[in-house]
Amino acid sequence: MRYLVRNVSSLSGSIRVPGDKSISHRSIMLGAIADGVTRVEGFLEGEDALSTMNAFRALGVTIEGPDQGRVSVHGVGREGLKTPAIPLDCGNSGTSMRLMAGLLAGQNLRATMTGDESLSGRPMRRVTDPLALMGANISSAEGGRPPLNILPVPSLKAIDYTLPMASAQVKSAVLLAGLYADGVTTVTEPAPTRDHTERMLKGFGVEVQVDGPRVSIAGGQRLTACNIDVPADISSAAFFLVAASIAEQADITVRHVGINPTRTGIIDILKLMGANLELLNPREVGGEPVADIRVRSAQLKGIDIPEHLVPLAIDEFPVLFIAAANALGRTTLTGAEELRVKESDRIAVMADGMKLCGINAQPTPDGMVIEGLGHLSGSRYSGATVESHGDHRIAMSFTVAALRASSEMNVLNAKNVATSFPNFVELAKHIPGSVFITWTVVPFTA
Ligand code: S3P
Repeated sequence: MRYLVRNVSSLSGSIRVPGDKSISHRSIMLGAIADGVTRVEGFLEGEDALSTMNAFRALGVTIEGPDQGRVSVHGVGREGLKTPAIPLDCGNSGTSMRLMAGLLAGQNLRATMTGDESLSGRPMRRVTDPLALMGANISSAEGGRPPLNILPVPSLKAIDYTLPMASAQVKSAVLLAGLYADGVTTVTEPAPTRDHTERMLKGFGVEVQVDGPRVSIAGGQRLTACNIDVPADISSAAFFLVAASIAEQADITVRHVGINPTRTGIIDILKLMGANLELLNPREVGGEPVADIRVRSAQLKGIDIPEHLVPLAIDEFPVLFIAAANALGRTTLTGAEELRVKESDRIAVMADGMKLCGINAQPTPDGMVIEGLGHLSGSRYSGATVESHGDHRIAMSFTVAALRASSEMNVLNAKNVATSFPNFVELAKHIPGSVFITWTVVPFTA
């Protein structure tokens, strides 16, 4: 599937983007090992979260839904998962594989986890190394890549582990294994990363100690089912925050967005660039902060992105590069080498596509230097045929880029947009409440 995108100048209206991917995964995983029925609303009906759901069905968990974002997970208790008869297919989803590796490591079962071509190339030692220290028996393919094979072990032991990189997936994998370990497991992170696992565990009645960068959990605790209201995903909202910032005239409100402080790097970075963003009606929903975000067009300016914001905006850099291309002056990103091991090498793939559009984007080992055009000057880069390498966020970023292109943008290999944002094209084509004709996105099946 590819997208053909034509630019327009005006965007306006109020939208709600789909549920948070990270929280959706965790709602299934924790609901599955809880006692009782966990009811979830706002669940992301995207392929990644569905991969997790199908995996837990194969592990013997009855799950009703999804039906308009509603899911009921009939928890089997902490020891109730069963050896699956089939490999657990994680599709494109690193979160499914890495968190499940931790959750399954200490259970008395065998399981194989596989993934698509992109996931099969992604590093898994970052989780299998600490899990091996805990006594897990997990083997991988060459180079520590998927598939992962998990074998039963008599018990796990707690560890005190310092993460070599800022990664919520690794932190979560170790904490989930820690639930099944003898003693208290502690993880120390080099920089704050998303803390949905810690928050949700507390919602299920588990004691989690957080002391600055150290998070500790005692093994043997039971989870009690609860209700979870999944807010809209700020990582999906990000495409519209940037779109509205760079469009000639825009006034968009994205409703009910999760603004957990470990996820709001996109807001901080856009504000530093001069974006016109307002957080309206802040509230708390099921342990997670939520707000409506209003964004109006503004001339962005180039900045040096502060490194401490990198883990807090880790999934938003593809679209932030497009913001930078439309900003006045130079934007420099450093300290973001993790982008090279996401669903694609997001530094290389974005630099290649931007260069095809005539944007001055220079990749570096750990980031990018982009010379922005300054969109209010009227300058535009050209449209191009860009390859998204099956990476959902690359495909959506070039769709946003099309708003400021002087000719059509053709985005190839866009089918994986369905992993995180199944109705992206619908929303992009016609923003509800808009008095203007919005972006034209024509999906092709090819
Ligand atoms: C995620 C953590 C991040 C992020 C991914 C989802 C999670 O990965 O990129 O999309 O749900 O824990 P890392 O923790 O590997 O940076």
